[in-house]
Amino acid sequence: MAEDGSGNRNAVTDNRTTEGTARNGAAGDHTLTVTDNRTGQTYELPIEDGTIRATDLRQIKTGPDDFGLMSYDPAFVNTAACRSAITYIDGDKGILQYRGYPIEQLAERSTFLEVAYLLIYGALPTREQLDAWRDQITHHTFVHENVKDIMRAFRHDAHPMGMLVSTVGALSTFYPEAKQIQDAAAREYQTYRLIAKVPTIAAFTYRHSRGLPYVYPDNDLSYPGNFLSMLFKMSEAKYRPDPALEQALDVLFILHADHEQNASTSAVRAVGATEVDPYSALAAGVAALYGPLHGGANEAVLKMLREIGTKDRVPEFLKGVEAGERKLMGFGHRVYKSYDPRAKAIKQVADDVFQVTGVNPLLEIALELERIALEDDYFITRKLYPNVDFYSGLIYEAMGLPMGMFPVMFAIPRTAGWIAQWLEHTADEEQRIARPRQLYTGPLDLDYVPIEQRTK
Ligand code: SDX
Repeated sequence: MAEDGSGNRNAVTDNRTTEGTARNGAAGDHTLTVTDNRTGQTYELPIEDGTIRATDLRQIKTGPDDFGLMSYDPAFVNTAACRSAITYIDGDKGILQYRGYPIEQLAERSTFLEVAYLLIYGALPTREQLDAWRDQITHHTFVHENVKDIMRAFRHDAHPMGMLVSTVGALSTFYPEAKQIQDAAAREYQTYRLIAKVPTIAAFTYRHSRGLPYVYPDNDLSYPGNFLSMLFKMSEAKYRPDPALEQALDVLFILHADHEQNASTSAVRAVGATEVDPYSALAAGVAALYGPLHGGANEAVLKMLREIGTKDRVPEFLKGVEAGERKLMGFGHRVYKSYDPRAKAIKQVADDVFQVTGVNPLLEIALELERIALEDDYFITRKLYPNVDFYSGLIYEAMGLPMGMFPVMFAIPRTAGWIAQWLEHTADEEQRIARPRQLYTGPLDLDYVPIEQRTK
């Protein structure tokens, strides 16, 4: 039994590091020796890839009727739910890699469609593969005409994310063959359709909110260029996207494409594990992303900056944050405990966009918030840094988009990550329907009380 130096007896010995005297495991074994001090029983738990299997705890019982130990981990702060080869994050070092390629190199040298291919197929495409991939996506950008009727049913002021959740889910009714999730060809076909059609639906939500006619896809344009055309084309015969904005959007899409087991990806995996079609699984992802603590934070940041109003009111606002009255939206991250590498890259994109659109006046407030927060003990001790959502909204607003569209701009590229994660989960032999346990805290064995006798 290892002592922890404080005189307390540890019930657990990590045999990978403890010298010598571990009761059962020899030092250097990849096992955990656990002694249940309720019974004096000792157990050897295998350590694999830095984890123990939660189900290995079930053998630890106080008697034959005992269910056995479970792990308790609200919000899964310290629980690996899957094995994945798609995205690697080192939160302490601020590292983000897609299939092993650093995000900085991809943002600098790749395109979103190439990155989507990389995430989904696991390797950078050859020229032929990329051309075929682009061709498939380009020729699936149209949506069924009935989709327009579905969207026309929304109120004029419907939030674009509410429209996107509903319409992505509705796509499942147009492609019943998507239910064949064990069929590789069917999975690939829905992959093309989702990557191609989400921007079309996203643009339709914007046009709906402006009371403008929907703009059909222009297959001559690039992926970001076509999206800009579907957003902003008016009476001109052919929309010509500004190359600087087209490039900036492509980089923003690359930076938002995937982020391992975030809340919306976990939702897609859990819903997908019921073997429902991918449209329904991705609608769950859109719904999760909508939340202001997740992808909705970019919209919440702009509301926060507007509320602060001027640079000189930043110190007063931060006092409220430190008093726990509110959060500094766009700051903090469950994994990154240093600067989010995407936020760094997005600041560069902001400079490029503002060259074209003019600087967003709220930028000054954002920069002052960041300057003060990064020197302030409250944020330093909690390792709170700007995340991917802190600057992105400033760019979208400068591009002419309303705040409600900001999380939609996040959902478009994250469609590629959600699909890659859904495909990986579907193929993972170890996975099955997700069904966590609970710690029951309610009453038991109550007798039914007739309503006449209920006094409260
Ligand atoms: C995204 O998971 C992903 O990968 C997500 C994402 C992706 O690409 O998919 O990166 C995209 O969702 C980015 C995050 C966008 N959300 C926001 O910007 C909203 C503001 N951020 C916080 O809500 C928060 O930081 C979270 C939700 C992002 C992370 O929350 P955690 O990990 O649960 O952290 P926590 O709440 O346990 O905070 C630890 C401490 C707490 O203080 P104490 O109770 O210890 O005193 O830090 C404080 C929190 O109150 N804190 C903040 C804060 N974030 C955490 N205080 C002020 N402002 C904040 N933003």
